[in-house]
Amino acid sequence: MPPQEPVFFDVSQENKDTDIEALSQGLLAHPATLSPKYFYDAMGSVLFDAITLLPEYYPTRTEHHILVAHAHAIHAQLPKQATWVDLGAGSCQKAAHLFSRTLPATYVAVDISSAYLANQLKDLQAQHPQVNMVGVGMDFSQFLTFPAALQQQLSAHPVLTLYLGSSLGNFTPTEALSFLQKIAALCQQGQPGSGLLIGIDLVKETHTLERAYADDLGVTAAFNLNVLRRVNHLLGSDFDVRDWQHCARFNTQASRIEMHLQAKHDLLVQWNGHQRHFNQGETIHTENSYKWSIDQFTDQLRAAGFSSIQHWTDPLVHFAVFWAQ
Ligand code: AVJ
Repeated sequence: MPPQEPVFFDVSQENKDTDIEALSQGLLAHPATLSPKYFYDAMGSVLFDAITLLPEYYPTRTEHHILVAHAHAIHAQLPKQATWVDLGAGSCQKAAHLFSRTLPATYVAVDISSAYLANQLKDLQAQHPQVNMVGVGMDFSQFLTFPAALQQQLSAHPVLTLYLGSSLGNFTPTEALSFLQKIAALCQQGQPGSGLLIGIDLVKETHTLERAYADDLGVTAAFNLNVLRRVNHLLGSDFDVRDWQHCARFNTQASRIEMHLQAKHDLLVQWNGHQRHFNQGETIHTENSYKWSIDQFTDQLRAAGFSSIQHWTDPLVHFAVFWAQ
């Protein structure tokens, strides 16, 4: 029998024209902004995986430690024979590790970086031929709506939604609430036992936070600067990476890490009938990564409609994994 291949749905290009227009508008705005979703082209996905290996970048490693240290208690909560929906699956490493204790009946991996996801999922499928695997290339920051062919899978079994890696941090608290409400609806649609397993990065001292986003090797700087090449590719703009520098700072008031690209000198960028002048020191805001407290996030889950909530954390209380039903 030939090896099983995962079914793949690619809806990542669906809103392309609106996306390009929003991208252009963001660059013309004062201050200029770029959505963090543009980080994840082929190079960006690999650079992000490199970030997760950096000694300064504690979130991935700490989340992994929590999932290992509390494996018994965590896996006792997870539904069996479930459909897993892995939001922002990326390399699929986080889910693959959970497979060693709990196997899903169906694994639905969702990511905006669709070619990268398709490759990673093919490898995972080869290691777990007994699991039904489905890939979905989609920008779920806009809509959390699955292809019709998948709806039956989602209502016939318990649904375990995985949102690991603290990616919820890219949303403002208001956006996070509405996204969590959509996840609650997805869990509601599934059979009893459905729930959400989510990793959340916690507020901590500024120095630790800022170092995690400005590492000594400059990998995060490369990840941030790479977005300009992606934009050149998408818009036909003439950004020169060498004109810009990476900045990351913790905004205590808003409880978020902000990443910016700062112009090294006055410059002009042009694309498709548009132009934007940047003064020396002016920035493009490329990412927010919100940090939560355990209490605030518990309240947020409750506000989104989850009633049974528990969490596990590491000894330094740098990160938390929540289970919510
Ligand atoms: C993938 C959104 C969780 O905010 O920590 C890492 C992205 N940006 N280093 C994060 C990121 C710079 C990451 N998330």
